[in-house]
Amino acid sequence: MRRLFLLIAALACTSVVFAADYANVIVPRPVKCRAVEGEFILTPKTVVRAEVQSLVGAATIFSEDLAAVTGSKLAVKRSTVKSGAISLALESSLQPEEYRLNISKDGVRIVGGTERAVFYGLQSLLQIAAASDAVKGGVALCGVEISDKPHFEYRGSLFDVCRHIFTVEEVKKYIDILALHKCNKFHWHLTEDQGWRIEIKRYPELSAVGAYRNETLVGRNRRSKIYDNTRYGGVFTQDQVRDIVAYAAARYIDVIPEIEMPGHAIAALTTYPELGCTGGPYEVWTRWGISKDIFCAGKESTFEFIENVLTEVLELFPYKYIHIGGDEAPRDVWKKCPHCQKRIKEEGLKDENQLQSYFMERVERWLAERGRKIIGWDEILQGGISKSATVMSWRGSKGGIAAAKLGNQVIMTPNTHCYIDYYQTSDHKANGEPLGNGRFPVTLRKTYELDPYAELNEEQQKFIKGVQVNLWTEYISTFDHVQHMLLPRLAALAETGWSYGNKDYDDFARRMHILRRLYDKQGFNHAPYFFDGIE
Ligand code: ACM
Ligand code: ZN
Repeated sequence: MRRLFLLIAALACTSVVFAADYANVIVPRPVKCRAVEGEFILTPKTVVRAEVQSLVGAATIFSEDLAAVTGSKLAVKRSTVKSGAISLALESSLQPEEYRLNISKDGVRIVGGTERAVFYGLQSLLQIAAASDAVKGGVALCGVEISDKPHFEYRGSLFDVCRHIFTVEEVKKYIDILALHKCNKFHWHLTEDQGWRIEIKRYPELSAVGAYRNETLVGRNRRSKIYDNTRYGGVFTQDQVRDIVAYAAARYIDVIPEIEMPGHAIAALTTYPELGCTGGPYEVWTRWGISKDIFCAGKESTFEFIENVLTEVLELFPYKYIHIGGDEAPRDVWKKCPHCQKRIKEEGLKDENQLQSYFMERVERWLAERGRKIIGWDEILQGGISKSATVMSWRGSKGGIAAAKLGNQVIMTPNTHCYIDYYQTSDHKANGEPLGNGRFPVTLRKTYELDPYAELNEEQQKFIKGVQVNLWTEYISTFDHVQHMLLPRLAALAETGWSYGNKDYDDFARRMHILRRLYDKQGFNHAPYFFDGIE
């Protein structure tokens, strides 16, 4: 009987993509998708009606995005629900990220627990519209009832703008790509050995000195000795940061700034050598790798600097989490530094690992007094961590597993599955991939296979907040290349984040061929390998 109904519903719709197949269109895969009778013809005259003012923003963004698909921008009105329209409303019985999307002959209706949820419903509608058939006068949308919500609360992507810098417009496009995939966290990596990228009014020298390197390595790190002899750098001004944070907020994406400490600090140390253990001189790095020089943990001036920087960072970034790094901080200079050794003694610390814990916990306390929480890379576990720190597991999943067992919140971003600066096919040379991190390949399938709950029991799984891909840019200097690395692997991550427990790679692969058309229409570059059948 149900089959017969679906058949009738499908036949009633003139589109070649039947409503029953909409589950086979949307990425990430929705929880429930059921074909119903009828179809709605979306025309240039269709109005997007927001029942409350707070939905007008999402409606307007949708209308602009839809123009890339259908060629026409729809009018947006603040009004009650009307038939023949795309109607948006809030529904308090739904969860904050949960939405329902119904298409019938009377129109399209999206309701969500919050504005954010309605925005996600609109992303599904955008994908449906892109996959539906053009008919005379518009696009035929088949009758469907979709009921959907994410599995994980944190679905993110890191963008490193330090190794290479990108324009405000490019950062916004990165955010557009996240939004299409219903990702809700943008981890913005802003300070590094190779460049400081955020204006700090109290320290204008960071923008003049720390933001620039004298030249950049050409070719592979450690193998090449060739440099380009070209000064390189720049910062995002505070006005630009505010603009980007607001742009992300309009797409319901929280921005998490990363201010690295105690390592990856050469740009800051070049500007203020007195903040290092040896006093320098230092030079903003022109190649890649891990620096032995890091912030001195013994000097009070280091903490003063960091607190002053963070004071301005907190004004720019409203989201409660601040990423304070913690990764790849060798202990060599601390071992020889009288200030650091004095600190170890005075604080009764066992060794330099505990000195790093002292460093991170001190900054964490300062942030906590201001209502903020920290995220740190999994190295922060080494000398012990506070209960309130969130661990980002990157050296595989083991750090995240250990942290979840300790009862700390965890974001899974293991390099084995989530480092999208790594090559994306098993033979990067034969497949003509541009120069990348050659550690090991992270194919689309590999990213898709991430199981953030692996090795954790039900109780421990509750500490996994979500997942993220990381795009480091040592070998990526253009935004076309950024997109080439991000897509389609972000889609695989997004499906783990949203549809965990409802995943099937072959089904995902079919949907990706449809989503690719939307990438093309929206002007999102993407790697061809998977689409060409190459893994
Ligand atoms: C990292 O990749 N060093 C977090
Ligand atoms: Zn020191």
